[in-house]
Amino acid sequence: MIRTKILGLGSYVPDRVVTNEELPYLDERHVRQATKQTETDDAWIQKRTGIKERRYVPNDASVATSDLAHEAAKRALADANLQANDLDCIIFATLSPDFHFPGTAVVLQRKLGLAGKNDCACYDIRQQCSGFVYGMQMADAFIRTGMYKRVMLVGAELHSHSLDYTTRGRDVMVLFGDGAGVAIFGPMETDDARAGIVYTSAHADGNGANDLNLKIFEINRLPYLDYDPRDREHNQLMYPHMDGKRVFLNAVRGMVMSTNTALAKTGMSWDDIQWFVPHQANLRINEKVVEVAKIPPEKVLNSIEIYGNTTAATVPLTIDHWRKQGKVKRGDRILSSVFGSGFTWGAAIFTF
Ligand code: ACO
Repeated sequence: MIRTKILGLGSYVPDRVVTNEELPYLDERHVRQATKQTETDDAWIQKRTGIKERRYVPNDASVATSDLAHEAAKRALADANLQANDLDCIIFATLSPDFHFPGTAVVLQRKLGLAGKNDCACYDIRQQCSGFVYGMQMADAFIRTGMYKRVMLVGAELHSHSLDYTTRGRDVMVLFGDGAGVAIFGPMETDDARAGIVYTSAHADGNGANDLNLKIFEINRLPYLDYDPRDREHNQLMYPHMDGKRVFLNAVRGMVMSTNTALAKTGMSWDDIQWFVPHQANLRINEKVVEVAKIPPEKVLNSIEIYGNTTAATVPLTIDHWRKQGKVKRGDRILSSVFGSGFTWGAAIFTF
């Protein structure tokens, strides 16, 4: 039987570390000002989110989301001992594309040197923080059916350019960082039902569409984009909106349910799982999920403390971070549970 194997993994975060101490003084160009631009502080941020620092791209327009993805992709290809030309499909999960259209997968295809030489399929998907698990489900379906044989799945975000660096935007602004994670999948012949990607689930509830979103424009209006850079009060559409309480409640519910369903559907227990890698939305959410789902704490891997919330990148970035630290090893079985804007949520069990 053909099953889906992870051939390689890579991640990348920009060099600039932005600490909770520095963050309140940053203006919208990420330049530190003499006075606080945002009424927040390290104590509140750590207490409510667990975040200590995050990474930002340079403020000189030199780096786009596709560049973050390109660095992670090169590392994943090296890890898989593959060349870019071996790819026959790119799936790009992001809420922060280089531009509205076309999607960013085709930009990455060009940066990988494939444009005009390898016309591989390029998909952009938009499930925000659930994007990597949604993309894993797509990759698994493509591989098992023989549709494609070398699928690159990208989770990449450049958050720091679309955050509101004022007290008005502080509930969201403190949460997010820039980063990318990439996995490459391929087929393997095996009858072991617990090899490779074992299980994936993907869910959504459009009732949550207004609780966590970034509109930028409303296509039903004329003009469809109404942005006056001089009028910051007027520019609500340009910044993310979040009903924190509803997100917290629904995230815990969705992640607990998808985690428990993944174990039930596969007949596994936590004895069969080496690591639990939850989406890095907020450490307090993950602590609640671990408590409610009775997950052994020693199996839980987080990275939000040092990278913040990198949305579609959090799962591969966390796995790669702890692989580099010597914790995650090839052959380990991982259960990942995610929740995101939409609302969307899901889970995956896979042998790394
Ligand atoms: N610094 C200081 N004070 C803040 C900040 C901040 N960064 N953000 C909000 N506050 C204040 C609010 O102004 C409010 O003060 P007030 O009572 O004087 O008005 C108080 O903190 C509580 O604010 P609420 O909006 O009521 O926030 P809540 O108690 O829900 O806490 C938080 C906000 C931490 C975001 C919480 O809702 C939460 O953890 N929600 C989960 C959402 C989340 O973490 N999302 C991650 C991204 S979504 C995803 O990845 C799926």
